[in-house]
Amino acid sequence: MTSSPQHWDAAYDSGHETRGWYQASAVLSRVLIRDTGLPHDCAIIDIGGGASVLVDDLLADGYTDITVLDHSPAGLRVARERLGDSAADVTWVTADLRAWTPERTYAIWHDRAVLHFLLADDDIAAYRARLLEATGPGSWAVIGIFGPEGPAVCAGLPVRQYDESDLEALLEPDFEIAQMTFADHVRPDGEVQQFLWALAQRT
Ligand SMILES: C[S@@+](CC[C@H](N)C(=O)[O-])C[C@H]1O[C@@H](n2cnc3c(N)ncnc32)[C@H](O)[C@@H]1O
Repeated sequence: MTSSPQHWDAAYDSGHETRGWYQASAVLSRVLIRDTGLPHDCAIIDIGGGASVLVDDLLADGYTDITVLDHSPAGLRVARERLGDSAADVTWVTADLRAWTPERTYAIWHDRAVLHFLLADDDIAAYRARLLEATGPGSWAVIGIFGPEGPAVCAGLPVRQYDESDLEALLEPDFEIAQMTFADHVRPDGEVQQFLWALAQRT
């Protein structure tokens, strides 16, 4: 089983609100994005955003420059259909983040539950390269991935668990970490998953 667009399309098509990563509100992402202190017209990209409600929350909070990228057309379709007319206020990018060429830079790079699916060194290096291309000095990264006590498998795919030093190795020295925190995600079926979150600013 590989993390292909077809794999994720099938996951979304089988009922995204039952999937393990589903959350009704992107509470912690919202707090960390607010903690950047950036104005509401800052450029935000949600990497591997899929059907996430973060875009709904950000629009409700008054953010005006939001991009959602995902390689799964089905995931993006769920989000667009849910938003209705407001979907036109968002930029949607269907792309594999590893091979994507950013056309601009973003003030905030947000990733919840995407990086931990990248297992090969080359894929992690590609993630880091895109992160640096898509941000500039002063930009922020908000990244939430499985912590050391997180699961070994998610969505039928093997995942990597990150501890603080793993996340530091990914971000530093180009980013300075402002906050790092563990948080539990309660899946729709009640199972609890440990996440590690970082808020970091590009130097
Ligand atoms: C576990 S889901 C998380 C979705 C969303 N971030 C959330 O919090 O609800 C992982 C997402 O990453 C996307 N994804 C995985 N690998 C990707 C890649 N190489 N390029 C773009 N998107 C990818 C999947 O399609 C899926 O939407």
